[in-house]
Amino acid sequence: MTAIDEIKARIDIVDLVSQSVELKRSGRSYSGFCPFHANSRTPAFAVFPESGTWRCFGECNEGGDIFGYVMKKEGWDFPTALKELAERAGVELRPLSPHEQEQYDEHDRLRELLENAVVFFRHQLLNTPAGKSTLDYLHQRGLNDETIETFGLGYAPKSWDAASNYLKEKGYSEDDLLAAGMASARDSGGIYDRFRERFTLAIRDERGRICGFGARTLDPEGQPKYLNSPQTAIFDKGKILFGLDQARRAIREQDQVVIVEGYMGVLAPHQAGYKNVVATMGTALTEDHLRLLKRFTRRIVLAMDSDAAGMKATLRGLEVARQTLDREGEIRFDARGLLRQEGRLKADIRVSTLPPGMDPDDVINRDPGEWQRIIDAAKPIVVHVMDTLAASRDMDDPKTKSEIAAQVLPLIDDVPSAIERDTYRQQLARLLKVDERTLLTPRGGRGPSQSRYQPRRNPQAMAEAPVAVTTPQAAIYAREVHILGMLLRRPDLIYHIDRHLQENGLNRIQRQDFQHSDLQVLFRLTRDALNQDESEPLNYVLNHLSADMMPLADAVLETTQNLESFDKDVLEDILRGLVQLRTRGISQQLDHLRFLQEAAQEQGDLRAAEYQKVQAQYATLLGRLHRAQSQFINPSLTH
Ligand code: UTP
Ligand code: MN
Repeated sequence: MTAIDEIKARIDIVDLVSQSVELKRSGRSYSGFCPFHANSRTPAFAVFPESGTWRCFGECNEGGDIFGYVMKKEGWDFPTALKELAERAGVELRPLSPHEQEQYDEHDRLRELLENAVVFFRHQLLNTPAGKSTLDYLHQRGLNDETIETFGLGYAPKSWDAASNYLKEKGYSEDDLLAAGMASARDSGGIYDRFRERFTLAIRDERGRICGFGARTLDPEGQPKYLNSPQTAIFDKGKILFGLDQARRAIREQDQVVIVEGYMGVLAPHQAGYKNVVATMGTALTEDHLRLLKRFTRRIVLAMDSDAAGMKATLRGLEVARQTLDREGEIRFDARGLLRQEGRLKADIRVSTLPPGMDPDDVINRDPGEWQRIIDAAKPIVVHVMDTLAASRDMDDPKTKSEIAAQVLPLIDDVPSAIERDTYRQQLARLLKVDERTLLTPRGGRGPSQSRYQPRRNPQAMAEAPVAVTTPQAAIYAREVHILGMLLRRPDLIYHIDRHLQENGLNRIQRQDFQHSDLQVLFRLTRDALNQDESEPLNYVLNHLSADMMPLADAVLETTQNLESFDKDVLEDILRGLVQLRTRGISQQLDHLRFLQEAAQEQGDLRAAEYQKVQAQYATLLGRLHRAQSQFINPSLTH
C-alpha cells in the first residue's frame, strides 16, 4: 500500500468534507451546497463515500478525491495536500528514508564529480600538446568535432595525479575520488589517477546522467585496450548501454535498436546519421539491458563481429534474450493486460553479421550505405544460429548433422508462431540435407510443442466487455493508471485523442478524466511536457516530479513497460478506456441526480425541475459517449 492509498483508506471523505460543507445523506451518497461557488439554491454538490470521491454538478462541474478537494479548497499544490492529509491521517510520509536520501545525495555528488572530470579531460584534449596528438588520432579515425563533443570525449594525461589534483581543487576528497572510480588506492596509502594516457569517453545512462568513463590506450601494445570505470554506486556495466541517451529518440522513431559491441561501434554510425545504435561494453547482453530497451522498442538487431568470439557472444546473448522475452507474461499487471499482451508479444530479435575482420566503424568509413544494407539483412535468430553452427562444418557427416539438429530444434520449438516454426524446420532440413519428417520425431517423449495448439481464449472478447457501472474502485484506478501509463510513453497521442474526442462532440482529455489527484498531477505534467521542447516529454515529467511522486510514476510506467512504440492500438486503447471511464462517471452521476430529483419532487421542491434539466444534459452526453464508444471499438482510426 502506498502512502497515498493509506491516507485515502484512513480519511473518510464525508468527515473531511463535512468540516466545511453541511452534508445530507441521500441514498448511497451525500449532498450539500458546493463550497467552490456561490450558491444557495441547489445543493448540487455530492460526495460518494464508496468511491471516496466528490463532484459538483453545478457551475464547477468538477470532482475528485480527498486530495483534489483540499487542493481546491485551500489552494494547495499536490505535495502540500499530501503532507497535510498525511499528518491528519497519521500516516508517516517517508518517500525516502534518511538513509536513502543520503544515498541519493551521494549519487548526485558522484555524478557532479564525474561531470567535472569530463570538463577536465576535454580541456586536456583540446588545449594541451599531448591532447593535440590524441585529437589528431580521433580525427584520423574519422570522428568529427561534433561527435567528439556529443559523446564527451577527452584525454586523460600521462600523470599519476593531474585528474585527482584538479578534482581535489574542486572540493572533492580522496574518498570521493575512490567512490567515483576516478582513482585507485595505493598500498602505501594515498591515491593515484585511474585513467592515464588514454582517450576517454563519457558513459551516460538512458537519461543522460553520467555514470563513468571508458578509456582507450593510445599505445598499440597497451593493456588493457580499454579501461573502464570500476563498478561503483552509479556504474554497472551490465545495466547500462553505451549511447542510449543519444539513441533513444531514434530508437523510438524507427522502432528499432541496433546493438553493437564497443564504443567505436556507436560513434561512427551516429556520426553517419544512424542514431539508433547502442553498445554493450565488453560484456554479454544482460537481462537488464533488454528490460531497458523494451521501454523504447521491441525490435532488436544485434550487429556482431564475425569472429568466433563474437559468434559465441551472440549465442550467449541470444540465450538471455529469449529467456527475458519468454518470461514477459509474468510481469503483466492484470488478466486483461496479460491476455492482450500475449497476443501482441512480437519481440523481434535479429542478428546481422559484419564482414570478416570489420567493425561497425570500418564499415561506415568504407561505405555508410553498406551499414544500412547489413542491418536490413539481419536474420531471425534461428536462421542465424543455424548458419553459424553450419559454417565451415562438414554437412555430410551424420554426427555433425545430429549435433546441429539437437541445438537448433529446441530453439525452433520456442518460436511462438506455428508458421515460423514450420518454415524454420524446412530450412533446417534443407541445411542438413535430411527429410523434414525426421525433424518432427518427438524427442524425450514430448512431441514438438504440443502445448502450442491448445485453444486460447479470445483476448479481444475480454477487452471489449462492457464496464459495469459498479466497477470496483480498484479497477477504475487500474484503468486510469493504464491510460496514464500509455500517455506518459506517448504524450504526442494527446493531440490525436483530443481530435477524436472532439469529432464526437466530446470534451478534450482533461485532468478530470482521472478521479485520483495523484494521477491528475501526473497527467498535468504530461500535458505540460508537450508544451516545452527542451527535453523529451518523459524526461521532463520525471524531472519535474516531486520525490513523493516517484514511486507512483514508476508504478504507472511499469504497467506499460511493453507498449509497442508505434502501435495504432494504443490510440484505440486510450480512447476506449477514456470513454468507458467517462461513461461510468456520467452514469453514476445520473443515478445520483435522479435520486435528488425524486426526493425534491416528493417534497414539492422547486429544485426538481432544475435537477431534471441537468439530467437531460447528462443524458445527451451519455448518448454521445455511447456513440463514441461504438466508434472507438472497431474503427480504422487514422492518426
Ligand atoms: P574492441 O576490442 O572490439 O574495441 O572491444 P573497439 O570498440 O573496436 O575499439 P577500437 O576500434 O579498437 O578502438 C569492444 C568493446 O569491448 C570493451 C569496450 O567496450 C570495447 O569498445 N573492451 C574491450 C573493454 O572493456 N576492455 C578491453 O580491454 C577491450
Ligand atoms: Mn574497432
